Amino acid sequence: MGCCCNPVVLIRRPADRVSEQPPAGTAPRRWLVTGASRGIGRAIAAIACSKGDQVCLVGRSSDIGSTAAAMGEHAIGMQADITNPADLARLAETIEARWGGIDVLINNAGLHRGGTLDRLADEDWEASLATNLTGPMRIVRAMLGQMSPGGSIVNIGAVVGFRGFPGDSSYGASKAGLAGLTQVLAAELARRQIRVNMVVPGFVMTEMTSGVSERARESILARVPLQRMGTPEEIAEVCWWVAGSTYMTGSVVFTDGGLMCNL
Ligand SMILES: NC(=O)c1ccc[n+]([C@@H]2O[C@H](COP(=O)([O-])OP(=O)(O)OC[C@H]3O[C@@H](n4cnc5c(N)ncnc54)[C@H](OP(=O)(O)O)[C@@H]3O)[C@@H](O)[C@H]2O)c1
Repeated sequence: MGCCCNPVVLIRRPADRVSEQPPAGTAPRRWLVTGASRGIGRAIAAIACSKGDQVCLVGRSSDIGSTAAAMGEHAIGMQADITNPADLARLAETIEARWGGIDVLINNAGLHRGGTLDRLADEDWEASLATNLTGPMRIVRAMLGQMSPGGSIVNIGAVVGFRGFPGDSSYGASKAGLAGLTQVLAAELARRQIRVNMVVPGFVMTEMTSGVSERARESILARVPLQRMGTPEEIAEVCWWVAGSTYMTGSVVFTDGGLMCNL
């Protein structure tokens, strides 16, 4: 893992964002967002930065440092693979040394590998579970000692973790597992006053969905009552709110243009 923090922290925030700073007397929260190099994770990191919070962006891409730098002085980038336990240990050590802990953990990094069961490679099954389920569990375990009462964990789920979509066994199983983990951790960590919730995006415009065929896109959109794809920013806004909600834990918040109620 490479830490890209040092070169990326010295860029001044634009003056026009000053009004978005937290109210006087409110300490900025420290966020760790996985999968923040693009898509939904980058949008979540951006909204947290725009509100004056500190954010550590995590991703495998070597561009993670410059992505963080573009968000201003409150962002740092850490290159890490969430499926690699050594990377996670180093991530936890670096955060502790730099910030002394975190207040919000967003488990957003994700991988989609499709294929009906007869064509599903073991490697795709294992990669899905490693990234979408085992990785988040290990990050929570690695960071828990650095989360104080009032801390908040948001896991990013998927509609296919709740409904059967042919061809999505590995992705669907991994996200269903993450939903189960969310419930268990919500119950387990409540005594430490740490909340754990899940935000479930519908069909969102990102690199993950860029390869979906026109036919498949039309058939998914035909089931979305709001009749359009979501944007990463629309998901990020909900994550921002869920992360800060003080009486919500173990909840699943669908942000899907109504897809779930139409399946
Ligand atoms: N887009 C949708 O329609 C949709 C719908 C439902 C749920 N979701 C979920 O939303 C989350 C974000 O998806 P997205 O659409 O924004 O996808 P995306 O554009 O493909 O971004 C995925 C992010 O995860 C990171 N990542 C993947 N594997 C990683 C690993 N092993 N270690 C560290 N980072 C890793 C990628 O960065 P690097 O490549 O730099 O590592 C990237 O930043 C995922 O959990 C996805 O399952 C998306």
